[in-house]
Amino acid sequence: MKKVLIIGSQGMLGSTAVDFFTTKNFSVVGVDKSAEFDFTDKNHIKNLLKKNKPDVVINCAAFTNVDACETTTGLSVATTVNAQAPVNLVEICLNLNIHCVHISTDYVFGDNVEFGHIESDIPIQAMNAYGHTKLAAEQGIIILCGGLDSSNFQNQNASVYIIRISWLFGHGGKNFLQKILVKAETELALKVVTDEIGCPTYTQDVIKTINYILENKLATGIYHVISRDICSRYDFAQYALEKINSQTVVQPCKLSDFPRVAKINNFSILKNTKLPEQRSWREMVDDFLAV
Ligand SMILES: NC(=O)c1ccc[n+]([C@@H]2O[C@H](COP(=O)([O-])OP(=O)(O)OC[C@H]3O[C@@H](n4cnc5c(N)ncnc54)[C@H](OP(=O)(O)O)[C@@H]3O)[C@@H](O)[C@H]2O)c1
Repeated sequence: MKKVLIIGSQGMLGSTAVDFFTTKNFSVVGVDKSAEFDFTDKNHIKNLLKKNKPDVVINCAAFTNVDACETTTGLSVATTVNAQAPVNLVEICLNLNIHCVHISTDYVFGDNVEFGHIESDIPIQAMNAYGHTKLAAEQGIIILCGGLDSSNFQNQNASVYIIRISWLFGHGGKNFLQKILVKAETELALKVVTDEIGCPTYTQDVIKTINYILENKLATGIYHVISRDICSRYDFAQYALEKINSQTVVQPCKLSDFPRVAKINNFSILKNTKLPEQRSWREMVDDFLAV
């Protein structure tokens, strides 16, 4: 029986990973922020992996409060958890011959490009402080894996995958779609932005695709796991509320109507050119609502 260790196992993506690999008959070990587990302590991680001997580690842990990353305290935590700890983890996995999957984000790209980014595009400037911490992890991991040849690692013996995802939604976590559904229970009208465009992605699809990548031993490197099509936050909310026959009216507004601490671009679009075509975000929402 194969063993998978999930870091951040109580988060939105991590909890989906635990459920998925349990039903696939993996032996699953989940760790999350607690008195017993310290992701930021390199020796602690090394000992944990030596003791558990997993075949694969999936790192879903992160400091994900994007606005808090703009504060000195938040940035300090995010730098340790999002930037340094994942690089340490990959180094340990490489030394112990453990496959490692690290989750990254569309926010590593901050240039507001309308047609989006493919896997081999080099992020020059992240979108905001959170994006910078995630980009720093990617850069450290890429160095450990011998650099890039297009979007694959030069050293194909390094069994490491960087999986960029975006606009994640799922059960058991804070996300845009959940917030809209909860608000619609009590509010007659919701203002939602029409000028923020991205690729909503369901946690189930992300984990299934990670499993596909591992099962098929795809070339190690960077992958984009996102819905095959794009939408605005407004379209996203409107579609979900229509699907549940909500009477709440979705009113269009602009990003500038909701000033944020962190910079959020109008366009944050990832393109998948390496994996089989992914599902439409509408199919993903249908599945999410059916659970
Ligand atoms: N959500 C999105 O829209 C989105 C988009 C693109 C990429 N991503 C990436 O996808 C991954 C999963 O995101 P998510 O939305 O599932 O995040 P999440 O729900 O916030 O889960 C992250 C988990 O990591 C844990 N964690 C934080 N600091 C830790 C530490 N020092 N040690 C151990 N565990 C720690 C969190 O615990 P606490 O809750 O107790 O802090 C939480 O359980 C992350 O890498 C994120 O950057 C997310």
